[in-house]
Amino acid sequence: MTRTVYVNGDYLPETEAKVSIFDRGFLMADAVYEVTSVLDGKLIDFEGHAVRLKRSLSELQMAEPCSKDELLEIHRKLVELNGIEEGLIYLQVSRGSDGDRDFAFSSEDTKPTIVLFTQNKPGLADSPASKKGAKIISIDDIRWGRRDIKTTQLLYPSLGKMMAKAAGCDDAWMVEDGYVTEGTSNNAYLVKGGKIVTRPLSTDILHGITRKAVLRMAAEAQMVVEERLFTVDEAKEADEAFTTSASAFVMPVVEIDGVTLGDGTPGPIAKRLREIYLDESRKAAV
Ligand code: PDD
Repeated sequence: MTRTVYVNGDYLPETEAKVSIFDRGFLMADAVYEVTSVLDGKLIDFEGHAVRLKRSLSELQMAEPCSKDELLEIHRKLVELNGIEEGLIYLQVSRGSDGDRDFAFSSEDTKPTIVLFTQNKPGLADSPASKKGAKIISIDDIRWGRRDIKTTQLLYPSLGKMMAKAAGCDDAWMVEDGYVTEGTSNNAYLVKGGKIVTRPLSTDILHGITRKAVLRMAAEAQMVVEERLFTVDEAKEADEAFTTSASAFVMPVVEIDGVTLGDGTPGPIAKRLREIYLDESRKAAV
């Protein structure tokens, strides 16, 4: 089925949507993005994603393409036009096109390019992958130093995902100075003795919208959370592990670098957090 997508004010069939080859998003990865999930035809944590988008844009001195209310309306209209019950909405804003290639930013009156499209994913909340749990490899984190900005510079995370696939695994956790930073497209956690451990926020990792919600819900459920650095070896000795993201919610991890965690099935805390997260998020969805 042909999707209806959004490009700079227009709702178009995906085959008719066009962006200039001089767009800095295309030439320089000079663009930021957000991925928002849809459950029951409603947006999960739209507010969080809108706030983070604003911050990413401002950190890169990029203009806001429209207001938050307009963004919400575009998201909702795309969900409706494409009949999405469960799935994702991808949003990208680039610095736009000056009609040529130049390392220097385009002039101030160049309009940003804004593009949104839906991804229909029936069964996203009840995915078989989440029941099996993910197998992870660890790789060096060689990304740039501003990982808190959600840019479209995703070549290394893509290579990491391919390294994981080549090793017969599902995903990779990245490691810097001996400590786990995050997954290729998710935040990373271990659980030991009932305690949930995750890396504290800094410019080293993306400030996950799902991370924020899950940590709040964990605290509300009287679970203990410790925000501190941890090594891959510590994760391998953990009782369980998991990742969080808008696209996979809470995903249990059952193996790291060939070492099985617990009995090799999703752990109780990851499973419980996934249930709580899906439950609460559905209630708060807009
Ligand atoms: N990725 N860390 C990285 C490097 C990510 O790319 C993501 C999200 C996260 C989790 O953030 P959030 O909970 O806000 O989704 C952490 C999205 C889903 C993607 O690139 O598809």
